[in-house]
Amino acid sequence: MMGIIGGTSLLNAEFLWGASDRIVNTKFGSVYLFEGKDFIFIPRHGKNRNIPPHRINHRANIFTFQKLGCENVIGVNSVGSLKKNIKPRSILIPNDYINPWNIPTYYDTKIVHITPSLDESLRKIIISTARKLGIEVIDGGIYLQTTGPRLETKAEVKFFQKIADVVGMTMASEATLARELDMGYASICTVDNYCHGVIDEILDFEKIIEDASKDRDDLMRLINALIKELK
Ligand code: HPA
Repeated sequence: MMGIIGGTSLLNAEFLWGASDRIVNTKFGSVYLFEGKDFIFIPRHGKNRNIPPHRINHRANIFTFQKLGCENVIGVNSVGSLKKNIKPRSILIPNDYINPWNIPTYYDTKIVHITPSLDESLRKIIISTARKLGIEVIDGGIYLQTTGPRLETKAEVKFFQKIADVVGMTMASEATLARELDMGYASICTVDNYCHGVIDEILDFEKIIEDASKDRDDLMRLINALIKELK
């Protein structure tokens, strides 16, 4: 059983056809999900698509994957690009992340310090599966997580450009919690825009979201193949 957690770009995804949806209650809160033959899919913004990034119950989401028997979790995460050569509409498989603030944990009553990283073997499977399908993906990149929900200022973007490649609001929290529960976690980042000020164009998040769900054939093919590969 594999876990998939995704946002805006997976709305109406074909792999969900035939999956049944339900709510699972956990000690961390309740989670709306889809259960297929070989996968569990959690839409991280909830059933009504109205949970903003800073209010997502990451602990309940990731705990649910473990509770339902997932060994691996793939996150599909929307990002903005900090680099001119990482173009919107590309797919990037990050190899590390920066998130030194708002770090979530399951360890509130016990002193445990995990060593965080993305799962390298899962990352390699994503990349080789994509290449077998002829889907171009960028191998590696540093993901920087902000709390959101606002986008970054131009000054923040200039600062982040020195240390990271893409910016998002969700992936690092999921990766950290999955590691705490000993599940493999890797991410498929969909590059939906250039970050504020990277190019000379006004950023509009409504447009980012609209673009994110358009024309994602490659992403859908990749996820379908990964479900077969990892089941
Ligand atoms: N910044 C932060 N998170 C994002 C962006 C961005 O530009 N685009 C998609 N998620």
